[in-house]
Amino acid sequence: MKINFIDLKAQYLEYQSEIDSEVLEVMASTQFIGGAKLNQLESSLASYTGASHAIGCSSGTDALLLSLMACGIGRGDEVITTPFTFIATAEVIAFLGATAVFVDIEEDTYNIDASKIEDAITDKTKVIMPVSLYGQCADMDAINEIAQKHSLTVIEDACQSFGATYDGKKSCNLSTIGCTSFFPSKPLGAYGDGGAIFTNDDELATKIRMLLNHGQNERYKHKYIGINGRLDAIQAAVLNVKLKHFDKEVKLRDEIGSRYSDLLEDADVITPKIAEGNTSVYAQYSIRVKNREAMVEKLSTKEIPTAVHYPLPLHLQEAFKDLGYKEGDFPVSEMVSNEIMSLPMSPYLKDSEQDFIVQTIKG
Ligand SMILES: Cc1ncc(COP(=O)(O)O)c(C=O)c1O
Repeated sequence: MKINFIDLKAQYLEYQSEIDSEVLEVMASTQFIGGAKLNQLESSLASYTGASHAIGCSSGTDALLLSLMACGIGRGDEVITTPFTFIATAEVIAFLGATAVFVDIEEDTYNIDASKIEDAITDKTKVIMPVSLYGQCADMDAINEIAQKHSLTVIEDACQSFGATYDGKKSCNLSTIGCTSFFPSKPLGAYGDGGAIFTNDDELATKIRMLLNHGQNERYKHKYIGINGRLDAIQAAVLNVKLKHFDKEVKLRDEIGSRYSDLLEDADVITPKIAEGNTSVYAQYSIRVKNREAMVEKLSTKEIPTAVHYPLPLHLQEAFKDLGYKEGDFPVSEMVSNEIMSLPMSPYLKDSEQDFIVQTIKG
């Protein structure tokens, strides 16, 4: 049995005729940047999330970068975030010359522990950037409340959680700004890099649109120093097709995630805990095991692919050594990064494949 970690081929075959025809339309139109496909995508993304503005951009990383730029973040500012995430979250903070201030995670959801955020706030803090990891939203109400009390902006790194809900509301539209990624392996993935920024703030939306196009407010008139952060029309065309089928895929992801957890209930592993009021899109289905190396090896001898998201928390990465953190500073993140591993997950994972994975884990 050959199991894929994420089955992008099965998904392509499912929508092939629609995707091919949309992409060929872009070719025939020669409108490769912006245009009708992008406008259609942005309006569908806005109605999907309920946000007033959805702005397509070049990647999840650039979505986060542009959001911080729109908030005027730079040298001397502090941004509170989690050390247990993909590096892009904190990389963009450092890239702008600001300082990432880490706060440890909850042991059950692996998201930032809101009860520890206030201790990290100083007079330099400008933004709280929670990450909705593995497809489940952080505790956004608690985070928004803290932000309001201290006049801070909240940017949700929703790069793994597009489609997830928090008390019935959609991820990406739970705070001042939400950012997502359309990297091919994400729950809503393009056929290249892509991302989107969501907000209900008209002024921020206008500024972000300028920033992603070199700060232009009209052709060759540059109000800000910006970047080339545009989403191209071919990616928009692919995403338009996939978004039409997305609800069905989210449902399948939920069923497969829940089925994993049911089947693994009596195994010697810790399955994901989905907080009350949350739904997860299971961007990753990640379990915790005491002896990860042995488990990875056991699965790999049966040709079952696995991955580790993430083996080293950001405060211990060489790239962040100047922040001055040391081992032991964030014990929950450190423990989880030693034990976590992700199993194959996609809406197209078959019951027989899942049974085989679970049997191998238990064997
Ligand atoms: C939590 C998180 N933040 C940011 C990113 C960056 O997104 P992209 O790869 O589209 O730049 C990712 C993507 O892997 C992510 O998982």
